[in-house]
Amino acid sequence: MKVKQAEYFGSYHKEEICPKDNKPEFAFIGRSNVGKSSLINMLLDKKELARVSKEPGKTQSLNFYTINNEWYIVDLPGYGYAKTSKKMRESWGSMIKYYLKNRNTLVTAFVLIDSRHTSQSIDREFLQWCGENGVPFNIIYTKTDKTKELELKKNIESIENELLKSWEELPTRFLSSADERIGKEEILSFIGDLLKKF
Ligand code: GTP
Ligand code: MG
Repeated sequence: MKVKQAEYFGSYHKEEICPKDNKPEFAFIGRSNVGKSSLINMLLDKKELARVSKEPGKTQSLNFYTINNEWYIVDLPGYGYAKTSKKMRESWGSMIKYYLKNRNTLVTAFVLIDSRHTSQSIDREFLQWCGENGVPFNIIYTKTDKTKELELKKNIESIENELLKSWEELPTRFLSSADERIGKEEILSFIGDLLKKF
């Protein structure tokens, strides 16, 4: 999959007003600060297309990018940002959950997990919710440049062993680093294969 065109399309605060042109789309989601916007910029070879935030919790709407005038990437606001109010978290939850459950052009979600940590309950709960609600997902481990190889292996094992307690098999997983540009070809070729089937 070659990215020939990539540009910002628009931001929407609920699913009902998202584009209705039936282009297939791929959503990127994960805890606040996990590296969603950085990963999207890396995949698209753009420095500042998706906003990378110094302060976590900045992406608050569903941000759409068109790729090759053919499909969308959607940068979703992160979950689990401690400083947002309870009311904000609830409205986040209902917006994202409604979007994920009802968006019939969503091919798959990529759930980003920070590879610097062992299994976190907030990620497990979100993946569990996806499973219970029939939302297709894959996993991308982010920031792999930050951890030494052995620790990285240990963290991923911890995450996957926890997942295997409630899942019979694991989804497709990718290792990535926006800083070292790792994972780009694998993720784009995976998207390319799914687009052929859409
Ligand atoms: P919100 O939209 O606020 O939820 O954050 P986000 O998930 O979009 O994360 P963002 O891309 O803004 O990155 C958060 C911070 O992590 C920034 O300081 C990035 O520079 C840093 N970061 C992101 N990806 C990587 C990576 O692969 N390696 C390293 N070392 N740092 C990264
Ligand atoms: Mg972001």
